Amino acid sequence: MDHSDKWIHGYSHLRTKLQKGWCKNVNLTEFHTNVNSNYGYEGLRVLVTGGAGFIGANLTKKLVRLGAEVTVLDNLYSSDINNLVDVFESIDFVYGDIRDHQVVEAEVRDQDLIFHEAANASVPNSVKDTQYDLETNARGTLTILNAIVKTDSDAKVIYASSAAVYGEPPSVPVREDFPLSPISPYGITKLTGEHYGMTFYHNYGVPFISLRYFNVYGPLQRRYVMYDFLWKLSQSRGSRLEVLGDGNQARDFIFVSDAVEANLLLAMKPMAVGESFNVATGEPTTIKELVELTLEALGLQGKTRIVYTGKSWKGDVTNLYADITKLKKVGFKPKVGISRGLRTLLNWFKERHGSTFITSSCVTA
Ligand SMILES: NC(=O)c1ccc[n+]([C@@H]2O[C@H](COP(=O)([O-])OP(=O)(O)OC[C@H]3O[C@@H](n4cnc5c(N)ncnc54)[C@H](O)[C@@H]3O)[C@@H](O)[C@H]2O)c1
Repeated sequence: MDHSDKWIHGYSHLRTKLQKGWCKNVNLTEFHTNVNSNYGYEGLRVLVTGGAGFIGANLTKKLVRLGAEVTVLDNLYSSDINNLVDVFESIDFVYGDIRDHQVVEAEVRDQDLIFHEAANASVPNSVKDTQYDLETNARGTLTILNAIVKTDSDAKVIYASSAAVYGEPPSVPVREDFPLSPISPYGITKLTGEHYGMTFYHNYGVPFISLRYFNVYGPLQRRYVMYDFLWKLSQSRGSRLEVLGDGNQARDFIFVSDAVEANLLLAMKPMAVGESFNVATGEPTTIKELVELTLEALGLQGKTRIVYTGKSWKGDVTNLYADITKLKKVGFKPKVGISRGLRTLLNWFKERHGSTFITSSCVTA
């Protein structure tokens, strides 16, 4: 029985107010000091699916600070409960699966907002385990939408989509009205979730907004290119860095607090319902530039041997960065530039992994 079967075959879920003693004591720093918007979240009932994950946990913490009543639904497939350690006593945590309709119906019923982050969030994993990717990203999303209709819930859904829905775009920067031609299983299932959501909006009036994240990075992440660089550097003590591809791929890196802001802002905009938005900075960074920025921030320039593999993974695209005109029109402006964001990530990585290759003098934000 694989991981996905466990849930379908009746493993019980757990709803709990978590206690401090549940996990090891991790001292997490405040990462959102640049953000002081409110938007009126006080007292709102909010469900965050995948709320123990990288983006979900950052979002959950912010929602708690804004005074929302937050429930997190997560099966901890790719996350660590310790991500929520500093808000344990302020949230309801439901250890459950978004494919389990009983759990989902119970949790969506009384919510005002649902930030739907739960997913297989990895392109390579979607190639390795297409079934889990399909089950969670497509069927899980459908389960949530069906539950909203069945329970007559008024909840608005803010869906975590992805730039992967575009596949290899005909040109860059990518606008929301570009062709949707995913080239990975992940892109297909994220797009399927988006299509289901829009269909439920048009057919049943379920308010649905889709956020197409580009490359989100920051504290609490456990994969993707920046984290991957740091991990590899820590393994080689800064002596060697293997980089997938030729380094010329351009990406649009958005710091996680900015991605959280986009969620908070769009969820409160009635005109955003039924729409899809690129969530990005609009600024391309090549992987080579990112390597240089990382080594510079670490004081490792000229010391690390960089090896470009020439080949990337299946389902990777060459250039992907966004046109964010549509997002800007609703009042969004990214606040954290890549150098500052990278330094914040380095500080967190050092705190979390205690890596000695990062010297304290080189990571002052
Ligand atoms: N991080 C990025 O750059 C990025 C880019 C594009 C889209 N996204 C999307 O944003 C969302 C969050 O991504 P992330 O980077 O935080 O990934 P993550 O893996 O850290 O978070 C995903 C969360 O979903 C949970 N989950 C997985 N399967 C589940 C299931 N069946 N039931 C309940 N919970 C389940 C995981 O345990 C995890 O906590 C995902 O939907 C992802 O597809 C992320």
